[in-house]
Amino acid sequence: MRIPETLSKAFGPSPDFETFLSGFLNDEKLLPEPGALKSKRFLTRSIAPHIERLSALFNRENQDQGDPLGAYWKKGTHPENLRLAYFLYFMPANLFRIASIWAELSRLGFQWKAGDLRGVEFGAGPASGATGIATGEKFCPVGIPKLGNWALIEQDAATLGLGGRWANAYFQHLGKSEWKVKEFPRKIDLSLGFLPPKAPKFNLWLMSFFLNELPTPRKELADLLLDSWKHHLENEGVVILVEPALKQQSRKLLELRRELLEKIQKEKLDDFKILLPCLGHQNCGALASPEDWCHEDVSWWRPPYYKQLDEIVELDRKSLPFSYLVITRSKRSRSEILPIPGNSQTHRLVSPAHSEGQDLEFFTCGQDGKRRARLRPALKSPVTPDEGLQRGDILLEAEIRGDQNSSRVQRLKARV
Ligand SMILES: C[S@@+](CC[C@H](N)C(=O)[O-])C[C@H]1O[C@@H](n2cnc3c(N)ncnc32)[C@H](O)[C@@H]1O
Repeated sequence: MRIPETLSKAFGPSPDFETFLSGFLNDEKLLPEPGALKSKRFLTRSIAPHIERLSALFNRENQDQGDPLGAYWKKGTHPENLRLAYFLYFMPANLFRIASIWAELSRLGFQWKAGDLRGVEFGAGPASGATGIATGEKFCPVGIPKLGNWALIEQDAATLGLGGRWANAYFQHLGKSEWKVKEFPRKIDLSLGFLPPKAPKFNLWLMSFFLNELPTPRKELADLLLDSWKHHLENEGVVILVEPALKQQSRKLLELRRELLEKIQKEKLDDFKILLPCLGHQNCGALASPEDWCHEDVSWWRPPYYKQLDEIVELDRKSLPFSYLVITRSKRSRSEILPIPGNSQTHRLVSPAHSEGQDLEFFTCGQDGKRRARLRPALKSPVTPDEGLQRGDILLEAEIRGDQNSSRVQRLKARV
């Protein structure tokens, strides 16, 4: 995914973000000493074991990837450090993923039309999603007005409390002092729907690494989501769903997309549009094969303490994979909502591009499904070898010849 350099450097290598984060955690009395984030001993002894445990859990190392997760916040001997580990390691990464999706909307010309912000984040944890939007809007604005209100819903009250205070502090830090947060510590019981009938309408609806924790079958989830959006999503509102890039979790999100589209078509709900990543309502190219799935990937400069943690736990989070969907409620056409130049036909790169002789080879996905394709950069195309091609790029008005296993881009208007 292409994001501006200002966003990729928002958290590092400069220590500014780390300094702010460390100050916040000090005020929260969560660090044993002010310089603890620079202490290898502290990170190794108090934080790393929890990261390893949570990583194994989120990657479902000892269970089927398709299984929902059980409760985890209250398990273990030191729940404060478990929360701190999540806050230091998983929150910034999820925040960055959401900010990158916002950057993608901005890059494709999306403009906010829904008035003052009324956001809701489900399974908010430490407000990773809400703070991700604030970061996205700071570096890649789409024009959200100054006033904003967030409802954060989360079953673990302590994590939510930390998230609420973090969001307030971080919004101020980013100059969004008129964004306010309200906390709703509660377990969402889907037999009662996502929101109570009397809940207000929202114009930004976030679920970041939340849906995979629910045991609900995709069809039921699609029904529940669309029913809630009919009542609680404003016209011109936006929904962002982010899930793990793991094969089964990603496929579940693609299945959810399929179920949503089926219902949208059956009930003629023309104002609901799935915008990203597919740029259209075509059948999913990845679901066509039982072994396939679809994910994005974004690179960032990690805060210095994060690099240290990566080294300690032997993980490498230089790039952040994820699967996602962006949906909007709008009567406008997709080309009005996302005025990509030369909008008529798009193919999205759904893999990295690698060199094969003089060609670049990659997978694309578009109205005509998913296919392996090659392109010779030196030819008349506007894609120069220097610029290259990367996962997430969009080929505009590409003329592609061949079959699913071997195609060639003959002509191309532009690469976005
Ligand atoms: C992996 S965390 C993601 C947190 C945050 N959205 C993020 O992206 O970092 C999933 C969160 O969903 C919460 N959660 C799971 N099921 C829930 C439910 N039924 N009601 C409320 N919160 C729930 C968990 O407590 C957890 O904090």
